[in-house]
Amino acid sequence: AKITYVNADGDSTIIDVANGDSVMRGAVLNGVKGIVAQCGGGASCGTCHVYVDPENTKPLADMHRVEDELLYFTACERKENSRLSCQLPVSEELDGLVVHLPEKQL
Ligand code: FES
Repeated sequence: AKITYVNADGDSTIIDVANGDSVMRGAVLNGVKGIVAQCGGGASCGTCHVYVDPENTKPLADMHRVEDELLYFTACERKENSRLSCQLPVSEELDGLVVHLPEKQL
């Protein structure tokens, strides 16, 4: 599914992410800057923070408790549309998803 990553400067990159990979992995594998993902997807570092586009209508995975708690410790402020991108598995249903990258992850 095609995922659009918009960096803090407003530049966007569209990546075709394999179904089953996470939004985080799609970025890291393709050299999209702005996602650090120190823990490699274990929901323990908070450095894969993204802001899901406010206009999003794609069905996203539910937020579990660990993700919810970690989002209070991200480098950039948590907003209503904050998610950990390692906790967003990609499927065809997410084709066209847009995520915004925070200014910093650390
Ligand atoms: Fe560490 Fe997502 S990669 S919390």
